[in-house]
Amino acid sequence: MDEQFSDRLAKALVSIRRQIDFEPQIALVTGTGLAGLLSDIKVEAKIAYKDIDGFPVSTAPSHKGELIFGEIAGTKVIAQNGRFHCYEGWSGDDIVLPVYVMAQLGATNYVVTNAAGALNEHYRVGEIMLIEDHINFLGIHPLKGPNDDNLGPRFPDMSRAYNPQLIAKAKTVAQSLKLTIQNGIYAAVHGPEFETSAERRFLRSAGGDAVGMSTVPEVIAANHAGMQVLGFSAITNQATGGKDQQPDTLEEVLENADIAASGIRKIILQLIMNGDFDEPKQA
Ligand code: HPA
Repeated sequence: MDEQFSDRLAKALVSIRRQIDFEPQIALVTGTGLAGLLSDIKVEAKIAYKDIDGFPVSTAPSHKGELIFGEIAGTKVIAQNGRFHCYEGWSGDDIVLPVYVMAQLGATNYVVTNAAGALNEHYRVGEIMLIEDHINFLGIHPLKGPNDDNLGPRFPDMSRAYNPQLIAKAKTVAQSLKLTIQNGIYAAVHGPEFETSAERRFLRSAGGDAVGMSTVPEVIAANHAGMQVLGFSAITNQATGGKDQQPDTLEEVLENADIAASGIRKIILQLIMNGDFDEPKQA
C-alpha cells in the first residue's frame, strides 16, 4: 500500500459519514453481469463514487459506480455496484480502497461475485461455482509496500481465505434449493484480453477450475481487514483451451452471468434469512 493510503481511506470515510450514518453487517460486491443481485436490497441510500473523496470511478462494462446502503431480510448490507479491475489500469490501492471502507463502516462479512470462464471440463455455462480458494496470477499484490498495522497484519494468513463454515452453509442452502453448484479454485489473471488456449491449459494444470479478471485483490484485502469471505463465480463461458474451444465474446459472458445470477441471489438471500453470517462489529 502507498504511504498515503490511510489518509485516503480516512477521507473517503469522512465523506461517506457526512452523507449517511450506517453500520453494515455484510459487504456485497457484484461482478460483470451480476448487478441483478442487488435488486433484493431495500435501498436506504445510494452514494455515487464521484461523491466520495478519493474513490476511483469504474469503467468496466455493466459496472455502475455507486455504493448502495440498505437491507436484505432485515440485515444491513452495503453493496459495491461496480468494482475496479487491474485491466482498467487501476492500482492495487484503488481496487482495495472500497474493501477497507466497508470494513471500517462495520462489515464483518465480504460476499463477492464474479463472472468466470470454466477451465474445468466438467463445468457447464450458467452454473455457479462456490469459490473454495484462489490462485493469484494477476501480477499485482495489493498489500505491497508499508503495512498499516491499524488495518491488518503485515503477513495475513490466507489458508482459509474463503471461510470454510460459510462455504459449508452455502452448500447446504444450495442443496435445499435444489441448485447444482460446483466447488472450485478461482485463478485470477490480469486481462483485459481473454486467455489464449495455451494459457488456459496451463491454468488448469496449475489447479484452476475457473478463470477471471477480478476478486483476488479484494479477497486479500478482506482477509487482511479480518472479514470472513464468501465467493461465487458465475460460469459464463467454456475456457478449457481444448480443440473444441469456441471464441469468447462479452455477449456470451453477460448472457450466462444472468442465468447463474438467479441461483446466486437465492443462495445469498437464504443464508441471510438463516442468520448464517457473522454479527457486525461492535462500535
Ligand atoms: N477469462 C477471464 N475472465 C473471464 C472469463 C474468461 O474466460 N469469462 C468471464 N470472465
